[in-house]
Order: sequence, then structure tokens, then C-alpha cells
Amino acid sequence: MGRGEGSVKSPGASAMPRVLVVDDDPLQRLLLVRALGPLGLEVREARNGQEALDLLGDGLPQVVVTDVHMPVMGGLELTRHLKALDPLLPVILLTADREREVRLKGIEAGADDFLNRPLDLAELRLRVKGHLERRGLQERLEDLERALLALVRAVEARDAYTAGHGERVAQYALWAAEELGAKAAELEDLRVGALLHDVGKIGLPDPILRGAHPLTEEAWRLIRQHPVKGEEILRPLRAYPRLRPYVRWHHERLDGSGYPDGLTEVPLLVQAVSVADIYDALTSGRAYLAPLGPEGALAALEAEVRGGRLSREAVRAFRSGLLRHRLLRPGH
Ligand SMILES: [Fe+2]
Ligand SMILES: [Fe+2]
Repeated sequence: MGRGEGSVKSPGASAMPRVLVVDDDPLQRLLLVRALGPLGLEVREARNGQEALDLLGDGLPQVVVTDVHMPVMGGLELTRHLKALDPLLPVILLTADREREVRLKGIEAGADDFLNRPLDLAELRLRVKGHLERRGLQERLEDLERALLALVRAVEARDAYTAGHGERVAQYALWAAEELGAKAAELEDLRVGALLHDVGKIGLPDPILRGAHPLTEEAWRLIRQHPVKGEEILRPLRAYPRLRPYVRWHHERLDGSGYPDGLTEVPLLVQAVSVADIYDALTSGRAYLAPLGPEGALAALEAEVRGGRLSREAVRAFRSGLLRHRLLRPGH
């Protein structure tokens, strides 16, 4: 996420895989282009790092094969620039066997692979092919995540009060999770889980989504299904086992009064998302309710803690997160 939104575009799904070959020696470039020919790729050429960067306006390649020592801009600097644009873009550095120092610097710059000169062309082809396959898979996963986010935004956009809800909940929950000492991988799952927590609302009719009040028995029944519907939507994802708790259990309450499972034990990071979810609902208001300020919303969350419905630790971490990001004044 967060990639492919700048001026540099990824090639479309139907585009031929593109490899960028960077070398100042025309004979070496010719050799590389010929060697890659049998893979049926579009191969573009640049004479140095700067020329390579200039070519990126047409979209990022899927693999870059680059020499190290070149005039104007060498391969190490090029690697750093490419990795700043897209940390997952595969970069293969061509080095000589004895260049141990260069290899170490290459690893530091973020290179994914090294090939020794003189080149073994069969090895070059296999390495490029392997990186292209991984790249293709990763692009498909990113597309899937983008499509899901578009789905969530489409649901939220149906109601002025919920527009941006997923993103705000993700941000608040991340702050709380940081206060709780969550690891980087946990934070990433929590972020995506929080963004998608209400994806199951896709099937809700407009009046219910807009918070028609009071709710009929049937409307209430439909609302209580959205965590289960959301879980079904996410099931095809590889990350499903890690995202599932956020989507299925964000309406669980520790006194067993929540839905859909009536749990009395909920993972702490899932509670962080629940707290963020309630906070955003209270501070964004609803058609029939004026929005609360941060202090009022926190007082309501603390009442939930006293009632045994929300985790004291999660609400405390949430409060610290708000204070740290200056959404709350000290002393409240
Ligand atoms: Fe929800
Ligand atoms: Fe929500």
C-alpha cells in the first residue's frame, strides 16, 4: 500500500514484463539484451544510473539488472534511488568475483541479487525469471489489497458520517498498538484489519448504513451479521488468518454482550481496534447524534471499561496515543 500512487506508474496487468538493463559498455548491454531475448520480455537499456532513472517516467520496470561502475551515476546509487521508489522492486547487481566490498555495499543499498562477471547467461536468465515471477505475484496481491480498499471506500462513501472511517480507525488503533508495544508485523496486520473491519457492511441497505433510528428488529439482525460477512469476503486472502480476528471480533465486548460470538476474552490488539472504532463513531457523530469532542468520547470509553465491556489496558493505550499525537490535552 502507498505505492504506485505517485508519478511513477506500475505497468498494467496486460503489459509485457519489462526488464531494465543498465551498463555503460555497449557490448555488455547487447550481450544482456540477447541473453534475455528468449524470455519474451520488453528489455529497455540505459547507459548509467541517471539515464535509467530518466526512463522511469514511463513506469517502473519489473526487474533491473545493473552494472556497478558507470559514469554519471553508478549501480549502487541507482539501487538506492530505486529502492526509495519501491522497496520491493528487484535489483540485480553485476559484480566481479573479487569485489567483496562492492557486494557488501550492494546489500546495504538494498540489492536483491548479485551475478558474477564474466556472466553465466543461463544463470542470468533463470535469476531474472525467478524475480519476475515473484514480482508478478506481489503485484497481484497489491492489486487485491487496493481493490478491497476501494470496496471499503465505496461502502463508506454511501454515508457522509462514515466516509474515511476505516482509515481513521486504522490510524487511531495503530497509535494505541504502538503504545502497547506491538511488533512491526503485528502493526501491519492490525492496520489492514482495521482498514477492512467493516467491509462486511457492503450488503447493508442504505437506510441502515446511514444509521436509521430507532433500529427495527430486522435491521439489527442485519447489522449483527456484518462481521461474519466481512470474514467471508476476506477468506480468499492469504493474510486471512491474521486479519480475521479484527474483522470478526471488533464488536465483541468483554462482558459477553458483543456480537457475533459473545466472547468474554478478546485479543488485546483487537480491543484496540474496537476502542478506535467506538471513538471514531462518537467523534464523527451520526444523523441523529451530535459528535462528541475527544474528552467526551474518552469519558464514554472509560465508562465502558468500568462496565466491564472494554479492556482497561486498550483504553489506557488509546488515551496515551491520543495524547502523544496531540488530539487530547494533558490533564484530561
Ligand atoms: Fe463494525
Ligand atoms: Fe466500524
